[in-house]
Amino acid sequence: MAYQLALLGGDGTGPEVLREAIKVLRVVQDAYGLTFDMVPYSAGGQHFLDTGEEWPDGTFESCKAADAILLGAVGLPNAILPNGELAGTGVLFGLRFGLDLYANVRPTKLYPNVRHKVHDGFKQIWEPGKVDFVIIRENTEGLYTPTRGYLDRGGTKELAIDSRVITRKGAERVVRFAFELAKTRHGAPADRKHRVTCVDKSNVTAGCKLFRAVYDEVAAGYPGIERDYAYIDAFLQWLIRSPESYDVAVTSNMFGDIATDLAAVLQGGMGMAAGGNVGEDHALFEPIHGSAPKHAGKDVVNPTAMILAAQMMLEWLGRRKQDRALQESAIVVEKAVEDVLREGKTLTYDLGGAAKCSEMGSAIAESTSRLAKTSR
Ligand code: IPM
Ligand code: MG
Repeated sequence: MAYQLALLGGDGTGPEVLREAIKVLRVVQDAYGLTFDMVPYSAGGQHFLDTGEEWPDGTFESCKAADAILLGAVGLPNAILPNGELAGTGVLFGLRFGLDLYANVRPTKLYPNVRHKVHDGFKQIWEPGKVDFVIIRENTEGLYTPTRGYLDRGGTKELAIDSRVITRKGAERVVRFAFELAKTRHGAPADRKHRVTCVDKSNVTAGCKLFRAVYDEVAAGYPGIERDYAYIDAFLQWLIRSPESYDVAVTSNMFGDIATDLAAVLQGGMGMAAGGNVGEDHALFEPIHGSAPKHAGKDVVNPTAMILAAQMMLEWLGRRKQDRALQESAIVVEKAVEDVLREGKTLTYDLGGAAKCSEMGSAIAESTSRLAKTSR
């Protein structure tokens, strides 16, 4: 089968890590008889500095026409739009809103031989399997709704308003997404129970009261999955204290944004954290670490998050297109990542090694190739 993949390397280390994911996708292509028609597009802060626009006209439409989108990272500190916003954000939000990618999927898994990054993480090894949960963040409303602005009087910004919009539709579909995902998983590490935790602040805000009420309505349709509730503030401390009790958590946009960076600490840091932005008909996959400009061009950052983002893409596309080869390849790429981590010989600095980004990428690609041969 042939698939169209739109590739947006973006800024800083984005193109470097994307290159490593492409290595792995090339191996998958050859091993599984697939064709990935990978089309690169320029977008982000550097593109803005060069041209005065965040991405060329027609790029959104090309992304829309593709089977899936892979994004490295967008944003550079010196690339600022006339309205004061970071150039590149329009690309990310253009795609999230424009393609209605309503579920932001952030798997948080601590792989073997990877140390968590909570204080003194390098001294304490957690038992394997302790951290394995997914945060589903609503991705098209909440505090990210573009209903915001300033009261400007005589050239002075006197007041700023951001409206936090929660809709029944927005809550319903993202909560359903979380329950459907929970059905496919193995439950929380602590007790192997399927569980969806509703994370909100329904003791205070109206939006969260609605979110929780809708959660209850949806949960009623999933009797085999345990209901669980947490206020966002308490959730964050429980997440650090006992990550093993979580399976799937669902929350609104800004709470999810904050919780997912914190969660990355439990899986070995941002270099390990991949994310998907998923809608009914489109999806974009990205590492969550951002462009990290200070490391750009040095070939030192960890490519794992980007490779795992590509792995999520294979899984999503495989399920959507009912393509067994794609589904198998997703399993194999994850195993390849695990093998390289377990072996511990080709790790980047953030994982305690000295390998270059490209060396770790090659190691994962080679491992993918070996595993694909034995699994077919
Ligand atoms: C994320 C990022 C983005 C967000 C930024 C880059 C706008 O932090 O994907 O979590 O806030 O959603
Ligand atoms: Mg974030």
